[in-house]
Amino acid sequence: MRIKLAYYSGTGGTQRIATCFAQEFSAKGNDVSVERIQLGNDHHDSLSDYDLLVLVSVTHDFNAPHQVLLWLESLDETLRLDAAVIFVSGGGEAITNRAARQAAIKILESKGARVFFEDMFPMPVNYFYRVKHPIDAMEMEAYPYMVKKRAAAILAREQRRIKPPAIDRFITWMCRNAWQGGAAFGRSIQVSDTCTGCGLCAEGCPSKNISLDSASSKPVFSDTCARCLHCLYVCPNTSLVPGKERYAVLKGGYDLDEIASRRASASEWENLDRIAPGWLWGGIRPYLQEAWELIKQQR
Ligand SMILES: Cc1cc2nc3c(=O)[nH]c(=O)nc-3n(C[C@H](O)[C@H](O)[C@H](O)COP(=O)(O)O)c2cc1C
Repeated sequence: MRIKLAYYSGTGGTQRIATCFAQEFSAKGNDVSVERIQLGNDHHDSLSDYDLLVLVSVTHDFNAPHQVLLWLESLDETLRLDAAVIFVSGGGEAITNRAARQAAIKILESKGARVFFEDMFPMPVNYFYRVKHPIDAMEMEAYPYMVKKRAAAILAREQRRIKPPAIDRFITWMCRNAWQGGAAFGRSIQVSDTCTGCGLCAEGCPSKNISLDSASSKPVFSDTCARCLHCLYVCPNTSLVPGKERYAVLKGGYDLDEIASRRASASEWENLDRIAPGWLWGGIRPYLQEAWELIKQQR
């Protein structure tokens, strides 16, 4: 089977999920073409040669990032293929997030794709508040197991569609224009003297919002920022400081390798009801409980 896997990631969590899916599909003998959705790559080859589209996207403001919707809008008018839509978020399939995939699914269906599968993967939060240990480490251990399971379901064309409750649809609708704040956020980023001009910020920016000044090699910000925070966290010297929404940037940074290097104990996994109680963790707890059933067989 020919599979197109398109993903959009800011700080790398969604990229890990996407890469893992691609590996699973390839390991099962499929021909997988991976495309990173970035500003400017919305004029691509036709999808008519593919049997399946798998879209993997980060959740921003209870929605798909605007760039993802633009990419979907740019697809051929008639898509005669099956599609699976996987989103990644800090809160998981929680109240507020459950309608985040709707706009993307609507565009795909309006173009003729048969969206048979949707799901949400929780990954460590990169914005505003830090998900406490051991939940963040659990998420890093869980995702390869859960990707393997969901990839098998997708290949078997298992039906998994969710009707988001009205409250989620309302929140998603309320926040539909939040992405427009990105331009001002990007322009507000200050570059301190500790910048060495290494260019890592510009290299991974999904919005192609950063160029390097030809004389000083220091980053210069344009007005296509998506507020994904990649540049702020990837900088080895923490040289970039936003003038807006500074509260949203995690003090101490966001390092998925460091989180993955920690391990939750078996007793922590067995006590998820206590560690992640109530509705606030309702989007993460069932996912981790499902993952633990798989992990404990291998530990
Ligand atoms: C601007 C912004 C908005 C976000 N909005 C949400 C949200 O609505 N719901 C949620 O659960 N997480 C939200 N997050 C957290 C991310 O979805 C989460 O940390 C994700 O794992 C980051 O993926 P990435 O590393 O691929 O960018 C937001 C993060 C940012 C930067």
